[in-house]
Amino acid sequence: MTDATQPASPEMDWHEHAFDLIRGIAAYTGNVLLTDLARVVGDHPDSAIANAFNHRQVASKAWARDQLFESCGGRFGEIWILGGWYGVFAAMLFDDARYDIDLVESIDVDPAVEAVARTMNRRAGAKFRARTGDMYALDYSGRRPDLVVNTSCEHIADVRGWLDMLAPGTRVLLQSNDYFSEPTHINCVAELADFVGLARLATVDFAGTLPTKKYNRFMLIGRT
Ligand SMILES: C[S@@+](CC[C@H](N)C(=O)[O-])C[C@H]1O[C@@H](n2cnc3c(N)ncnc32)[C@H](O)[C@@H]1O
Repeated sequence: MTDATQPASPEMDWHEHAFDLIRGIAAYTGNVLLTDLARVVGDHPDSAIANAFNHRQVASKAWARDQLFESCGGRFGEIWILGGWYGVFAAMLFDDARYDIDLVESIDVDPAVEAVARTMNRRAGAKFRARTGDMYALDYSGRRPDLVVNTSCEHIADVRGWLDMLAPGTRVLLQSNDYFSEPTHINCVAELADFVGLARLATVDFAGTLPTKKYNRFMLIGRT
C-alpha cells in the first residue's frame, strides 16, 4: 500500500490503514495468523472482520482455546465449528503450538463468510475446510468429529434440539452470553445455570463465565 512519509490524509480508506498496520504487526511479530488477517482486510473489504477480531471476541476465543486444552488436551482428529463465521477460532487453534489437529471444518449458514474463513486459514492448507450449511440440516450420521464447537448458541433458536441431532457422547464446546440488547441474539441466557439447563449435557468437564464490560460470556465443555 502506501510508503508515504507524510501522515495519511483523513480521506484515506480505513482498510488501507488497517491493512498496512496489521501487515506491519505481522512482520514485527512473525505471526502467520496476523499475515492472514491482513489479507482478509485487503481481499474482503466488505467483511465485518473488525467485529470478529475485536478484543472481546479474541478474549472469548482465547478463553475457549485455553479451557479446551485444560479439559481435553491438544490432540484432535476432526473438529467441526458450526456458526464458524470468519474462521477466527479455527485460525487461533492452528496458531497454537499446543494443538495438533488433522482437520477443522467451519460451517456457517451465511454464504458470504465462506471465502473469508478460507483466507483467514490460508496457512492451514488442506487441514482447513469452509462450507456453507445450516447446522440444523447437516448429516450427523456419517463422519463423527472428535469435537463440535458452537460459540454461536445465542444465535440459534433451539440449542437442545440441535444437540439432539448429534450422536450421543459427542464432545462439544458451547458458548452463549447475556448480551440481550443485540438484535441478532435470539436466544441469550441470563446466567451460567440457565445455559447448563438449556444444554443438558450428559457430562460436563468445564462450565464457566467470562465477564466483559458489556456482557458475560458462558461456556460449557462436555459430551452430549
Ligand atoms: C455473529 S456470528 C458469531 C458469534 C459468536 N459469539 C462467536 O463469536 O462465535 C454468528 C454466526 O452464526 C451463524 N449462524 C446462525 N444460525 C446458523 C445456523 N443455523 N447454521 C449455521 N450457522 C448459523 C451466522 O451466520 C453467523 O455467522
